[in-house]
Amino acid sequence: ANKPTALIVIFGATGDLAKRKLFPSIYRLFQKEKMGNFAVVGVARRPLTEEEFQANVKDSVTTFAGATENIDEFASHFYYHSHDVTNEASYIKLREMAESLDEQYELSGNRIFYLAMAPEFFGTIAEQLKAQNLTETKGYKRLVIEKPFGTSFDSAQILNDKIRTAFSEDEIYRIDHYLGKEMVQNIEVIRFSNALFEPLWNSRYISNIQVTSSEVLGVEERGRYYETSGALRDMVQNHLMQMVALLAMEPPIRLETEEIRSEKVRALRSLRPLKKDEVGQYFVRGQYDEGVVDGETLPAYRNEHMVDPNSNTETFVAGKLMIDNFRWAGVPFYIRTGKRMEAKSTRIVVQFKDIPMNLYYKPNETLNPNLLVIHIQPEEGITLHLNAKKSGKNIETQPVQLAYSSSKVDRINTPEAYEKLLFDSMRGDATNFTHWDEVALSWKFVDTISEVWENTKETSFPNYPAGSTGPKSADQLLEEDGNFWWHIDKFEPNC
Ligand code: BG6
Repeated sequence: ANKPTALIVIFGATGDLAKRKLFPSIYRLFQKEKMGNFAVVGVARRPLTEEEFQANVKDSVTTFAGATENIDEFASHFYYHSHDVTNEASYIKLREMAESLDEQYELSGNRIFYLAMAPEFFGTIAEQLKAQNLTETKGYKRLVIEKPFGTSFDSAQILNDKIRTAFSEDEIYRIDHYLGKEMVQNIEVIRFSNALFEPLWNSRYISNIQVTSSEVLGVEERGRYYETSGALRDMVQNHLMQMVALLAMEPPIRLETEEIRSEKVRALRSLRPLKKDEVGQYFVRGQYDEGVVDGETLPAYRNEHMVDPNSNTETFVAGKLMIDNFRWAGVPFYIRTGKRMEAKSTRIVVQFKDIPMNLYYKPNETLNPNLLVIHIQPEEGITLHLNAKKSGKNIETQPVQLAYSSSKVDRINTPEAYEKLLFDSMRGDATNFTHWDEVALSWKFVDTISEVWENTKETSFPNYPAGSTGPKSADQLLEEDGNFWWHIDKFEPNC
């Protein structure tokens, strides 16, 4: 049937992302026979021969896709261009390469430019692609661009204006890899295909929603980048706010890209903007200290490679978002994310309001509220927490769970996030990419917080040990509202 045909030009082809995610994803698509005619040009500064580059590609596939079948044939589609991003002649050479591969592989002039590299060159590359006529092609041209998309609203806008000189909004595919995750895509399906949830999906029945994305890893080798970013820009502005938008948006009238995007944009527009002097009431930050995990002492953030020993950068954020619209008035959306936490876990907990009156009341016992938990990773699934009768002759309640584990059922067939997103970009489906309007709104929201944080040194840093659940201030944030974080780190039905 309609298999996508394209020349894929990857800038940053010797980098980590290309190696870990992009080559293995293209390979999986190739193995599943989803690719039409294709060729890949790897672009990077390092001088490499075609053989060396193809050997890298094979290495990456063997390591990260765990397969070697048809690998020589696969790698033969890969070409290499040693490139200087600021040099005109280098783009002219790239254009000649593209034209000849177009012809050789019958690619209909379709071109995907994938920027998997340092963001400071995004603008220059887009401008040069246009100036040297690489965007002049008889097929489609698309720009796939990795985060970070700016570091503030202003810098994002400058970047956007630059890339818009060469590509129109509908040719720009801004990656947020969370949107490629199976269970993030499931949020809409759970909400809009079940009679059970949508009627309750509002302030009348929902008490609060909690979105957690915690990581065990520290900053690893990314200290230099992370020092300029911190958890707020690295995770909140993009991944967490995207999840909130999907949870909060109104049902789109159709499942079309523009319809979904405009509902997400409306949800983000309803976010209550923070004033500078309110930031401390709604957001707290943390930074990890040394800690012992599995008998091993892990270093404090300030002692990591390329990190300032007095760093004020946050490695943990918790916040409360209020969505001031008819549906959500008064319902807090709590978010939190951190590095060097106890568990690698991304979950959404929807906590329903208590029943009006507890008929099963017993002193010192409370009835658990109903929870809908969407387990995004590492396990993928849904649990619905209910109360039911404890078997026996007495009428007593006990908490029970209905569970659906998608990892167990479909895991083998579930494509990885990058595989889906690459395929979508080739098919021209931009639904799971972020539109400029979403990026702009989320930066504007986050900017107030980062401005306050940059200008006030956090004296309590470091304030949580590696391997913990984060700083106490994150718990206090919810306690003030009479709530608490549900510590559900695993998919453990019936525990
Ligand atoms: C990236 C961040 O966007 O997401 C990283 O830059 C983070 O710092 C990663 O580790 C988390 O992604 P995932 O898919 O492992 O949750």
